[in-house]
Amino acid sequence: MIIQICVGSSCCIKGSERLVEMFDQAIALSGRDKDITLAGSFCIGKCSPVGVTVQVNDDIHVGVTPEGFRDFWSQVVLPTLAKEDQM
Ligand code: FES
Repeated sequence: MIIQICVGSSCCIKGSERLVEMFDQAIALSGRDKDITLAGSFCIGKCSPVGVTVQVNDDIHVGVTPEGFRDFWSQVVLPTLAKEDQM
């Protein structure tokens, strides 16, 4: 799985740096660091008035916030990992 966190200027001021730290920690704690590649990206072209744009494989998610990180992890990242485990 590839998780790309937008670090473009619009997303940066809405928490990209904090989200990178949170993803990094969660990946390390999950023990799935060999299965998940974390990367930054330039503007994905989906700037939102709230939160950061995060791309998980081919799916683009807008408005991801540090406050919403736990939900994003459990509702997007873990199910995607589970799907990839079945392949
Ligand atoms: S700056 Fe992040 S989508 Fe544009």
